[in-house]
Amino acid sequence: MITGKTKIIGIFGDPVEHTLSPIIHNEAFKYLGLDYCYVPFHVKKKDLKNAIIAIKALNIKGVNITVPHKEAVIQYLDEISDEAKYIGAVNTILNNEGILKGFNTDAQGFILSLKEESILIKEKNILILGAGGAAKAIVYGILKEGGKVYIYNRTLSKALEIKEKFANLGFIEVIPHIEQSINEKVDIIVNATSLGLKKDDPLPINPAFLLSKHIYYDIVYPETLLMNEAKKIGCKVVGGIGMLLWQAVEAFKIWTEVEPPVDVIKKTLNKVLTKY
Ligand SMILES: NC(=O)c1ccc[n+]([C@@H]2O[C@H](COP(=O)([O-])OP(=O)(O)OC[C@H]3O[C@@H](n4cnc5c(N)ncnc54)[C@H](OP(=O)(O)O)[C@@H]3O)[C@@H](O)[C@H]2O)c1
Repeated sequence: MITGKTKIIGIFGDPVEHTLSPIIHNEAFKYLGLDYCYVPFHVKKKDLKNAIIAIKALNIKGVNITVPHKEAVIQYLDEISDEAKYIGAVNTILNNEGILKGFNTDAQGFILSLKEESILIKEKNILILGAGGAAKAIVYGILKEGGKVYIYNRTLSKALEIKEKFANLGFIEVIPHIEQSINEKVDIIVNATSLGLKKDDPLPINPAFLLSKHIYYDIVYPETLLMNEAKKIGCKVVGGIGMLLWQAVEAFKIWTEVEPPVDVIKKTLNKVLTKY
């Protein structure tokens, strides 16, 4: 029940209709009896600044930031965690009595989701497709865990920027063109572009690039066309739901200082996903 005391948490994104975050957080609030409510806000690029100012004006307790605002939002915040500053992207904001602090829980979400699947990152060769906010967090997480990164992006300059930013953390090489020869070298391929979100999106890479020895990880959820193609080829396929869950767990703790009930959330997500 929403009361006069209910604390509001939101998500700002464009698009935002596809998000499963309200389901995750509201289920956890309900289960734990916390007087919070999580709501989606469709925020366009031109309105981001006003939307961030509104967090204070409306006394919203916290928000998630999703595509395409994770990098642009930084300029409007009062404080940034060291990790989010290093990554250069924020996906979680805490309103601490009028002080807005940005965090990044995507890196940890990605790493925890791989650990849950018993996939080791150390010394693995990992090809990242994309160089946006999510890709930065993933590259950071992989390098911190001792993996080797190959990165390809439509806009080459953004991949080169990521290399420059993270080269001191470990091995990172930019792939200017996706060539067949690199596919023998890599163990894991991660789609960190926004391709797959819409039904008529092109595939992030030609399925002919994939080999059955590859682990194909798509951070776009719940299921993309390339995930289906990868399954046909015999790849182990991991979808973005695990990352979504684990980044949410970290964000939940930031807002409420309480551990969320992970198993309860998983059950609800599974129920919802069967209807997709
Ligand atoms: N599962 C999870 O928990 C989770 C967490 C975070 C994000 N995500 C999902 O990950 C996706 C990316 O998020 P983001 O925040 O990184 O977005 P972003 O900052 O807007 O970056 C988008 C990336 O996709 C690439 N891209 C977009 N359209 C393309 C096209 N037509 N052809 C080739 N490349 C294209 C962009 O390339 P250019 O640089 O060339 O524009 C850029 O690298 C979103 O779908 C988001 O929902 C999932």
